[in-house]
Formats: sequence, C-alpha cells, structure tokens
Amino acid sequence: MSDADRARFAPLLPREPIRFAPDFAWGVASSAFQAEGGDVANDWVAAARAGRVPPNPGNGFWTRAEQDLALAASLGLRHYRLSVEWSRVEPARGRFDEAAFDRYRAICDAAVAAGVAPWVNLFHFTHPTWFAERGGFLEPANHADFLRYVERAGRALAPHARHFHVSNESMVYVLTGYLMGTNPPFVRDAASAFAMTRHVLALHADAFRILKALEPQPTVATIEVYLDPRPEQPDDALQRQAAERFDAWYHGVLLEALATGWVRVPARAPEEIGHLRGALDCYGFNYYNATSFGADGPGSWSDRGDPPVDAMGRKVFPGGLEDGLVRVARALPGVPLLVTENGVPTTDEAFRIRYVAAHLAALERARQRGADVRGYFHWTLVDNYEWHFGFGPERFGLVGFDPATGARHARASARWLAEVIRTGVLDPARIP
Ligand code: BGC
Repeated sequence: MSDADRARFAPLLPREPIRFAPDFAWGVASSAFQAEGGDVANDWVAAARAGRVPPNPGNGFWTRAEQDLALAASLGLRHYRLSVEWSRVEPARGRFDEAAFDRYRAICDAAVAAGVAPWVNLFHFTHPTWFAERGGFLEPANHADFLRYVERAGRALAPHARHFHVSNESMVYVLTGYLMGTNPPFVRDAASAFAMTRHVLALHADAFRILKALEPQPTVATIEVYLDPRPEQPDDALQRQAAERFDAWYHGVLLEALATGWVRVPARAPEEIGHLRGALDCYGFNYYNATSFGADGPGSWSDRGDPPVDAMGRKVFPGGLEDGLVRVARALPGVPLLVTENGVPTTDEAFRIRYVAAHLAALERARQRGADVRGYFHWTLVDNYEWHFGFGPERFGLVGFDPATGARHARASARWLAEVIRTGVLDPARIP
C-alpha cells in the first residue's frame, strides 16, 4: 500500500482495541451464480451471450463447496451465506430437478458438519430464462411461480439449514433492472420501477409466510444494501432534492413497509400489504459505500477531500455503515441486525485489511449508539464473478484461486480476520 493510502486510511481506523463478544456471528456471504457460474439457463447467461455483461465460468464452488466450507471453518468463520440458483432447481417451468436439490442439501450438510451455519438465500439477481421470458416479477400473474419455487426450495432445504433469506437486495434489483437499465431485464422506466417496488415487497411478505410455516421453522432475514444517498454539494438545492427523493424511495419505502405494512411508492396509491408488517426475524444490512448525487449524476461519497478509493473507483466511507445501522435500528425497534455483506474490490491486502478494520470500527460505533448488531459477514470468501467486471482484477475474496486448477490460496486478509475472530479483539497495533 502506498504511503498516501496509508495516510488516507489513518483517520478511519480504530485507535483503541475493539472487543467482540464470543457469540458475535462471524461469517462470509456469497451468491449462487457468482460462485457457481456455468452454463445455466438464466437471464445473466443470456445477457453474457448477447455481449451485455461478462461471461461467468464461476470459481468452482459447485463442485468444491465442501473444501470451501472447511476452509471457512478453519478461519473461524461460523456462518456462510449462500444462495440457490433457481434455474438449476427449476430449469423449466414446473419441472424441478431433485439432483440439483440434492447438491444444495449436501452443501448445507457439509457446512453443518464443518461447524458452519448455512444461510440460504432464494433470489440473488438471477432468474431462470423461462421466468424472465414470461416477464419476471413485473407481471403479477407470474408471482405464483416464484412462490411455488420458494415453497419447494424451502421444503427441500429446511431440514438442512436453519436460516433463510427470501432475496438479496430486492431494491437494487429494481433500481438496476428497471430504473437504470444496467442489469437484466435492462429496463429504464420509473413507472415499472415503482410497480416493481410494490411487487418485491408483496413477494417478500408472501415468501416470508411460506418459509415461516416450514418444519423446522427457520429464521428469515431480509438483505438490503444501504446506499446512504447524499448531495455532492450540501448547499446545492437540486442535488439535495435528488438525494432526498432517492432516499425516500429507496430506503424510506422499504423501512416504512417493514415497520407498518404500508407501501407508499411515488405516483402510486398507498397500499397496505397483508403480513408485510414485521415480516423479518433479523435485518440483513449490506454496505460498501455512500452514494453522492452531483452535477454528473450519482457517484460515491466521502466526507473527506482525499479518501481512499477502491479498485472499482468507490470512495471509502465507513460512516455510512455506522449511520445506516443506527437508522435501521431506530426504524425497526426490537429487530436484530446483521451486517450481511461488506468488502472491497482490491488487489492490495493492506487496503482490504484496513477497509475491513475501518468498517468494523464503524459497526462498533453503531453498537455504542444502540444498534443491536449481532454479526459481520464478509463479502466474500473466495473471489467470485462481479456482475459488471467478471473476474477482473477487482477481487473481493479473502481467498484467491488458481483458474487452471481451482486450488484456493488464503490471502493475508483471511489470516488477519481469522486472528481477530480467534482472539475476539481487533487490535489497532496489528493492522498492517
Ligand atoms: C451484491 C453482490 C455484489 C457486491 C459487490 C452487493 O451489493 O449483493 O452480489 O457482488 O455487492 O459489488
């Protein structure tokens, strides 16, 4: 790491040792398609064929999961967030593939055998092509298809995993797929995005009920990324308004909906959705960076003139994690929080370690301010496919792999985090 980056990070790092309780949940997060890759019949593979996103050979998790889970356990990580690739278990509408379910059952069993709790997420950005071709979630007649899959997957895996998520970042799915048009199905239409907001919340409520009815009854947590919108120049009225309007839709609607059951989307009549109020056992909070609204559109935000910047060009701002956790805790009193993703694309291990240390310090500050944060899941264990960067140099893994052999190699950040977990102390003197 350069001396300049060292100096940029210095004010963000903890000055005193931070102690973590023995029951603090240390984990890693991943998603099916990003780790498994392969020639599955989903909308991202179709988009890659059309040259709109990079191809995804995967990192080998589909066949090497047992080794990866053992590696996680050896680092002291006791929780592993994975997801089910819907197109594997239901490759054609109504035709479920028991062999694919068997593999997911075996992965969950391998986790438990290694002393790692699997957290099973059922939707992480990818749809089977048959579902995408029918119009996806935007078409209300399709909702029953998703709920049937949730029910089948839940029944298949509930005996093997105690923790479930309906979806990952459904608001990002709506934002990127229907408002910005950068992800499948590449739509840019505010009316569709607002309709989708209502649909993903209604689907969450229905899927939550389905999962909570399973035997044995699992815990079901949401997962949303905190984007922390801010005006680039606080005294610019237009930028302030843009950030506030975005925040009211993106964070405001979601938090109000979970707290009250009411969905108030711009340009649509308010709607109360049955069973949405309180439809979560735990709030999964993802965080990478804050978002600025400036003259050139959205970017990343920092309160410093010269912040550290990651390999994807994002300014490092741990304060967003602190403030976001406190905000969610206040909006949803009594709901435990879990950081379900946080990590950084970099090729520099000192940068990664400092990024994590700075965010763990922010997490601790949020706890001091009353947020009931029960754990930290790092994104991710083994380098995986990054949606618009493929397997470029922007790697998020604590562990790298050899593309020719698949062999894993733990990085310095993995060893550093394992030491924090083992001792229960983040010691500033041990930050490189
Ligand atoms: C997503 C991941 C993604 C990560 C890093 C998160 O918001 O859930 O799928 O890889 O960000 O960009």
